[in-house]
Amino acid sequence: MPLHRLTTMIVGVTDLDATRDWYREFGLDEPQPGRMATRDGGIQLELEQAPYRGLQSFGLGVDDTDDLDRITAGVTAFDTGVTVTRHADRVEFDDPIDHVPYVVSIARRYPADTATPAARRNRPAEVNRTDRPAEGVLRDERVRPSNLTHLVRGTVDHEASIRFHQQALGFELSDPLPGLGGFLRCSDWHHNLMLQQGPAPFLHHIAFEVDDVDEVGRGATHMLERDPACHLWGLGRHAIGSNFFWYLRDPSGNYAEYAADIDRVTEQAAYRPKDWSGHEGLYAWGDPPPTEFVIPPDIEDVVAAMLAH
Ligand SMILES: [Fe+2]
Repeated sequence: MPLHRLTTMIVGVTDLDATRDWYREFGLDEPQPGRMATRDGGIQLELEQAPYRGLQSFGLGVDDTDDLDRITAGVTAFDTGVTVTRHADRVEFDDPIDHVPYVVSIARRYPADTATPAARRNRPAEVNRTDRPAEGVLRDERVRPSNLTHLVRGTVDHEASIRFHQQALGFELSDPLPGLGGFLRCSDWHHNLMLQQGPAPFLHHIAFEVDDVDEVGRGATHMLERDPACHLWGLGRHAIGSNFFWYLRDPSGNYAEYAADIDRVTEQAAYRPKDWSGHEGLYAWGDPPPTEFVIPPDIEDVVAAMLAH
């Protein structure tokens, strides 16, 4: 597939200054006002003051101009009614199902070797560390997410939307959720985009990958020391995708996830998922999800505002 990663998401927020400050504390850099960067992915979140929170633009990365031509051809072939604007370094169009603005641009791949060295872990009958505490206990530097790894949003027609992402853009469907949506990837990460059936393309959450579960816990603990009310759901481990997770709520009501140890899928034919029926689809262990995770408390207002625009 020509795509290799997510690039930059533009997210509307109702309190720009407080939300910028929150994501700085979350671990993102802010090289320019409102433009938030991960360690390995550069600017991956652009915050813009808006009348309601939500996804304003979805960014995807390719290697070169040949890939931009492939994307242009793929979108045009899928739906000749879509206006595709080809710039020298990017392609812009609105997705034909939900009309979310997409920007596909040339982006450098993530470096392969920036992660924290794997911790040496002890377990019964296997002692790999003696005479010193675990590395996760010794760390005191701030948590820095390495990349924006996935985004979850609503779609008014999940079957058509999944088809668009597969056929026009080359996404792979890692795990379908029949009748509800699906987990799609444009890289080796198990999912970069999850689409869920709903009345509008509301933003459910954005997820930032950190190096290991200690960074998930350290990051969330820092945020909760600052403001316990931003806790949403965690610590737990998802079943589909396997990621350790801790979800928090930013000051504008968007959800942000610290994620670690997400499954990598290099070949769809080789992937062997479980039967994801029952609660195991959502989580393998941890507290059950709070109601606000499933139904964000502002969702009716957000959807009403989206439909009015
Ligand atoms: Fe997630």
